[in-house]
Amino acid sequence: MSAKQHVLSVLEKNKGKSVSGAKLAQELFISRNAVWKAIKSLQLEGYDITAVPNKGYCLSEDNDILSVESIIPYLSDHIRPVNLEVRKSVTSTNTILKELASEGEAEGKVLIAEEQTGGRGRLGRNFYSPARTGLYMSILLRPKVKVEDSLYITTSAAVSVAKAIEKVTGCEAKIKWVNDIFCDGKKVCGILTEAGVDFEGGGLEYCIVGMGINVARPQGDFPDEIKEIAGGIFEPNRYSSNLRSKLAAEILNYFWGYYSEFSKKAFIDEYRRRSFLIGKEVNIISGDQLQNAKALDIDENARLVVQLPDGEIKTLSSGEVSI
Ligand code: BTN
Repeated sequence: MSAKQHVLSVLEKNKGKSVSGAKLAQELFISRNAVWKAIKSLQLEGYDITAVPNKGYCLSEDNDILSVESIIPYLSDHIRPVNLEVRKSVTSTNTILKELASEGEAEGKVLIAEEQTGGRGRLGRNFYSPARTGLYMSILLRPKVKVEDSLYITTSAAVSVAKAIEKVTGCEAKIKWVNDIFCDGKKVCGILTEAGVDFEGGGLEYCIVGMGINVARPQGDFPDEIKEIAGGIFEPNRYSSNLRSKLAAEILNYFWGYYSEFSKKAFIDEYRRRSFLIGKEVNIISGDQLQNAKALDIDENARLVVQLPDGEIKTLSSGEVSI
């Protein structure tokens, strides 16, 4: 860890409080000049750090820059081996992790970006990913499961995001099958899971699970095509400090818990309980065709059970429905 990362880590843990330069230097085994240099460099990166005479340096409570140091204090001990990286701007966290996966990167790499310039959604769509108002995070996994079981990775990720949103904001979070999270009737998160198949072994070589969360409505609002459906988990008057860091950490805490006991499928009941669709009239989308149906249930394999107008019961394991 560099002196700058060390200093940031101490300031993050003491956010809103002053930490003396002498104490920082002593604890981190660096000179006071090195502390000062680290502070200057962090300020240049946009960190709101004030020097309070006779007290030391204070990182403002309102500072909401995502960093490894800002997330770590909220991570549970059981997921410490996760290898976190935060970048300012990337094309797509999923694309980068896919490249790293094919170069041999180990399971547990998590890439978070402040902004994505080429964020990708399901079905070849773009995912609008502006800076400051969202959280864009991908996790690299090397699960020892069959290709068809990658559905459960998405499912457990959806449950983890919904629970984390609820824990951090108090907002009730529902899941629209397969993997969209809704709060107050608006889509606040989408999940894109991409798998690399091991053709010789017949299983998965890697799996990237990418989550894009709208933390707040962006300034100037969402683009026209998603304006009506998209929402943010925090309204401007509820926006509080550290929330993206807390959210990232809580998602990882929940997800790692489920992933480490994957075979138990402990998340399915919660997935069903949070369904946004059960009991509603839906449209099953296939190509440019829409078929009306009623959503009845989510089965033990996370498939959507629907009833068609002629009474036929159908079980869907992939695809898209609208309401
Ligand atoms: C969807 O709603 O269609 C899924 C959106 C998934 C977006 C996330 S943001 C992090 C990761 N990187 C991407 O390019 N996509 C996913």
